[in-house]
Amino acid sequence: MPDTALEAAANQVMTCRATGQAPVVRTFFDLPTFTATHVVHDPATRACAIIDSVMDYDPASGRTDHAMAQDIVDYVTAEKLRVEWLLETHVHADHLSAAPWLQKRLGGRLGIGHAILKVQDIFGKLFNAGTRFARDGSQFDALFDDGARFTLGALPVTVLHVPGHTPADMAYVIGEAAFIGDTLFMPDSGTARADFPGGDARMLYHSIRRLLALPAETRVFLCHDYKAPGRDAFAWETTIGAERDNNVHVHDGVDENAFVQMRTARDATLSLPNLIMPSVQVNMRGGHLPEPEDNGVSYIKIPLSRS
Ligand SMILES: [Fe+2]
Repeated sequence: MPDTALEAAANQVMTCRATGQAPVVRTFFDLPTFTATHVVHDPATRACAIIDSVMDYDPASGRTDHAMAQDIVDYVTAEKLRVEWLLETHVHADHLSAAPWLQKRLGGRLGIGHAILKVQDIFGKLFNAGTRFARDGSQFDALFDDGARFTLGALPVTVLHVPGHTPADMAYVIGEAAFIGDTLFMPDSGTARADFPGGDARMLYHSIRRLLALPAETRVFLCHDYKAPGRDAFAWETTIGAERDNNVHVHDGVDENAFVQMRTARDATLSLPNLIMPSVQVNMRGGHLPEPEDNGVSYIKIPLSRS
């Protein structure tokens, strides 16, 4: 069966490269969580999208802060950008989203993949979130399916569903650039883990092969970088061609079984992200804190495992 969504994305990249329709990307890197937030805009219309924003959070005190998000507000204001979208590539497990805070100040619509319903179901049960936690994606303004298309100003956007790291990962192809969330990392760093609830290494392989079928010249923007050994600077931009040639986990020639074996063995050695408990409980609610209790305070739960 032809992959019409992927074909549409690939054609879009080729057309935009031919016509010179390129988005401007400014990246804000959050050192505590190694997250790259991308502010991408169409220079012709100043329409802009903010992808994977970060709310600062101190786990010891439970205090939240918006210094990083304020930097984004300042940039958007100085550049006279008009925020149309706040996009999440997935429900992150390592940082809290600042999307609602940014939306209040800058406007725009909050979008994520349709499979968020699956993620809300998994984590709603895991955290016994109760009936007040709606598991229908209603915390978001738009739920994208594979192949969804819209525009950012004059720039075409095609959305691809790329599950595996989590069930709801999406890649946003904007003009000639792909914002691929946690699928691939920089070529010298490999790929994202696939062992969170609902994750699947085999599914991740297929999603990655799909992304790697985009034109080699496609600019690729990542959600994280941890500086591979031997590299001095953080990096978050590469190309599909560079990933195909050099990705240490999944360059051309690595087959599905070899990848799954490597990914599974590696995931078994990784500890959970420091902020997984607050991140998931906030991000499954679209970046909102859990419903306050009768004293007006929101709490993060930690399920204790029975030994
Ligand atoms: Fe992630």
